[in-house]
Amino acid sequence: MSPETPFLTAEQARRVADEHGTPCYVYSQERLEAAADAMLAFPAAFGLTVRYAMKASPSAAILRLFHRKGLHIDASSGWEVRRAMRAGFAPDRISLSTQQLPEDIGELLALGVEVNACSLAQVDRIGAVAPGRAIGLRFNPGKGSGGTGKTNVGGSDSSFGIWHGWADEAAARAARAGLRVVRIHTHIGSGSDPAVWQAVADLSLALVARFPDATTLNLGGGYKVARVDGEKATDPAVVGVPVRAAFERFAEATGRRLRLEVEPGTFLVANAGAVLARVVDVVRTDTRAFAKLDTGMTELLRPSLYGAQHPVTLLSGSAEAEPTVVVGHCCESGDLITCAPGESETLAPRLLPRCASGDLAIVGGAGAYCAAMSAKNYNSFPEAPEVLIGRDGRAHLIRRRQTLDQMLANESVPEGL
Ligand code: LLP
Repeated sequence: MSPETPFLTAEQARRVADEHGTPCYVYSQERLEAAADAMLAFPAAFGLTVRYAMKASPSAAILRLFHRKGLHIDASSGWEVRRAMRAGFAPDRISLSTQQLPEDIGELLALGVEVNACSLAQVDRIGAVAPGRAIGLRFNPGKGSGGTGKTNVGGSDSSFGIWHGWADEAAARAARAGLRVVRIHTHIGSGSDPAVWQAVADLSLALVARFPDATTLNLGGGYKVARVDGEKATDPAVVGVPVRAAFERFAEATGRRLRLEVEPGTFLVANAGAVLARVVDVVRTDTRAFAKLDTGMTELLRPSLYGAQHPVTLLSGSAEAEPTVVVGHCCESGDLITCAPGESETLAPRLLPRCASGDLAIVGGAGAYCAAMSAKNYNSFPEAPEVLIGRDGRAHLIRRRQTLDQMLANESVPEGL
């Protein structure tokens, strides 16, 4: 899964563009399954559950594919829980860790959905609707690490999880409601430094020690992938080894053989997806050449939000290359696809083949948090379709392009206007 090799060949890209139009998300079944296999081999001493953090890319076909691979689900809202159930996941294979407990939390819990309480107030609310139930507690272990400040969800400046200093208070509140704490959960960020993640595994084990009924430790997601040259990926087979040893030491010391849960999103889908787009214009100023695509923050928000780097391949056929700034189609100077790493406002031209209107472009590393997280319908561009290249080599449409009627379906105009 090198960032160098787009999984779409030029020939396939042309076929998909002819059949489904552009812009279009394209996923590779082979890559999705390979990533699932790599995660299922995560070093674990006493059993492993891999939960797909479905917020990364929640279309039904992708959920079904991971269901078939035996993955479970990490849901971040009540809506995601319902969506996973519609895709065929049994409620007891879904775990909810959310900033906002849904109104119907009692019903979801009664169906068998697992929950990690993410604040002291959530412990109380769960206790009120489901006294006596087994729950997990999500802690903020006091340390965090993310690829950018916006994706770091641990430490004093983060609102995610119960601050580790309130562990006794959480235990007392759970006990008051008769809740049994069977799982401890930490997730410290996306694109985490593996050394920090490993250190947090030790802090998390120390938290488990304070909850005698806990049988599972969930260490979250956040495993890095390399989308472009120079980025460093996290290899689960490597980072998991010292953590497995820590679980073994914990078992020797306490007699408790803990199950490991991980819940990657990015790792499972990022490099298995691309946005197929077309150059709609090439414009020049006195110093710059800009290639405008028929995509942008409407399909790929990550560059504007984080200064994220995505590889761009231009199928232009020209042998001549020039430094090119690739921009999106929104009326927004921030709709910049080739920005500087971590600096969404800074233009960072890439040396690309000279291109012209009509050329195809493949924006890689777009399987995670792209279709799922976009400035959808901005400038009234319709939601782009999603296509899955199957093992059979065929391009299966897994979500149609939105129509104008669908975009307007919920609008109404008061009488007399
Ligand atoms: N578990 C929990 C509780 C999470 O909040 C998240 C991500 C994950 C697992 C999966 O993390 P991953 O393996 O994908 O890093 N939108 C950003 C990342 C923020 C995701 C928030 N939570 C991005 O585009 O990279």
